[in-house]
Amino acid sequence: MVHKGDETMTKGVVLITGASSGIGKATALMLAKEGYRVFAGARRVEKMEAMRAANIEPIALDVTDGESVAEAVRTIMERAGRLDILVNNAGYGLYGILEEVPHEEAQRQFDVNVFGLMTMTRAVLPVMRAQGGGRIINISSVAGKFVTPVSGWYAASKHAVEALSDALRIEVAPFGVKVVLIEPGAIRTEFEDTAVQQLESTRQMDVYSQMATKFKTLVQNNYRNAPGADVVAKTIVRAVHAANPRARYAFPMDSRMLILVRRLAGDRMIDRLLNRMFVG
Ligand SMILES: NC(=O)c1ccc[n+]([C@@H]2O[C@H](COP(=O)([O-])OP(=O)(O)OC[C@H]3O[C@@H](n4cnc5c(N)ncnc54)[C@H](OP(=O)(O)O)[C@@H]3O)[C@@H](O)[C@H]2O)c1
Repeated sequence: MVHKGDETMTKGVVLITGASSGIGKATALMLAKEGYRVFAGARRVEKMEAMRAANIEPIALDVTDGESVAEAVRTIMERAGRLDILVNNAGYGLYGILEEVPHEEAQRQFDVNVFGLMTMTRAVLPVMRAQGGGRIINISSVAGKFVTPVSGWYAASKHAVEALSDALRIEVAPFGVKVVLIEPGAIRTEFEDTAVQQLESTRQMDVYSQMATKFKTLVQNNYRNAPGADVVAKTIVRAVHAANPRARYAFPMDSRMLILVRRLAGDRMIDRLLNRMFVG
């Protein structure tokens, strides 16, 4: 895919949401190095200024704000004249005990991870349909397939991303728009701190203390040895390059294994395992 932008030949024009840190930032840097024209969107636009040195164009973007989303797409169309790839990456983890998480926090989780992703998607589809094609890469999670206690709202948001992507993939196929899901496991980014802070700030009742502590310890152990964002960025680049991309890419290997175990084991077996890990 080689397109003439306003002044340079590029492999294609990409918008990555949530590019101020972690997976989004790593993907922006990798795609820019590969010769794509990359627009990096996030709320903390000042954090992305240094990325200009890598030819990346930072854009102020809050995916929960329809006007901000429309403005970002307008800016890209004015500057580059097209938009080939959207990486819907902006998101965070709301960990918390379901009885304790306030409605407003749950709503915010869906506003960013689900409705934000769809607001972005609806904003770029008219452009992609008019161009006769494009690619939308949605960052889901192993939590989109495998639910544990204390991750209920986050897992629900990623299950929603999975369902919406499966529907969208068929709806937009006739227009040459391909929809891909990426399902990462634990990756060392700002994600862990944010998610654990969410758990701690919503904690209230003693009756759930043991479960919350066990969950937090498990998360901290998982993340201690987790790989960095580059492994997911490489998978996203693979999905960008593939002429015929798969519907989903689970990475790294532990994510693929967990998803496979969930598919093969029955509810009773999974519940027994989770009870042993988090209850008794
Ligand atoms: N790290 C993991 O273990 C892991 C595993 C599976 C899936 N994921 C998924 O990977 C994606 C990226 O997470 P990460 O690990 O790279 O975490 P991260 O380092 O915390 O990055 C999250 C990014 O999302 C952006 N963001 C948050 N709210 C936003 C909003 N309303 N509008 C625009 N941008 C927003 C943040 O930027 P601003 O705050 O500057 O806006 C930040 O750039 C998320 O969807 C996450 O669920 C992560």
